Amino acid sequence: MAETRRLFFALELPGEIQSEIISWRATHFPYSAGKPVAQANLHLTLAFLGDISAEKQRALCQLAGRIRQSAFNLCLDDAGQWLRSGVIWVGPRHAPRGLLQLADMLRAQAARSGCYQAAMPFHPHITLYRQATQAVALPAPGFSWSFRPTEFALYSSSFKQGRTQYQVQEKWPFPEQ
Ligand code: 2AM
Repeated sequence: MAETRRLFFALELPGEIQSEIISWRATHFPYSAGKPVAQANLHLTLAFLGDISAEKQRALCQLAGRIRQSAFNLCLDDAGQWLRSGVIWVGPRHAPRGLLQLADMLRAQAARSGCYQAAMPFHPHITLYRQATQAVALPAPGFSWSFRPTEFALYSSSFKQGRTQYQVQEKWPFPEQ
């Protein structure tokens, strides 16, 4: 059987925002909230692809390279918890149109290429904790981190020595207009 990789398209967070979110998380959530996501792994998933062969990866990268999405500003000013999936997250209260368009295009390309896409609508978020199945008190509004992503990327995910590691496979810059 052909070798596969677990892949997803995502936006990386700038290092200083990753670090600020980690400090904020440490002071605003109880230690027992769930399994904290490592600082370097904080990202915003655009489209999850699943286990993909090298051939399909090439095809999906070619399609992604045809996307012409102009840059947009992203403000992370909302937080929530999904009890069923055990996820605590931060995300934008108002998702920019460019972000929704980009995720829609990537998810449609993935679906057309045979990658199962969950029927749930895209809800942009950055997972802070997993296995958070007990409700926690969420931080009061008033926090926000803003940045302007310059590119989106294809990541591979692997589990090594008890840790999830993400690695950028390819990147596509946003054309500035
Ligand atoms: P999550 O953070 O909301 O769980 C890599 O696994 C990324 O792809 C994660 O950020 C994860 O989102 C997202 N993802 C979406 N659907 C997934 C699935 N069915 N299995 C694993 N990860 C998924």
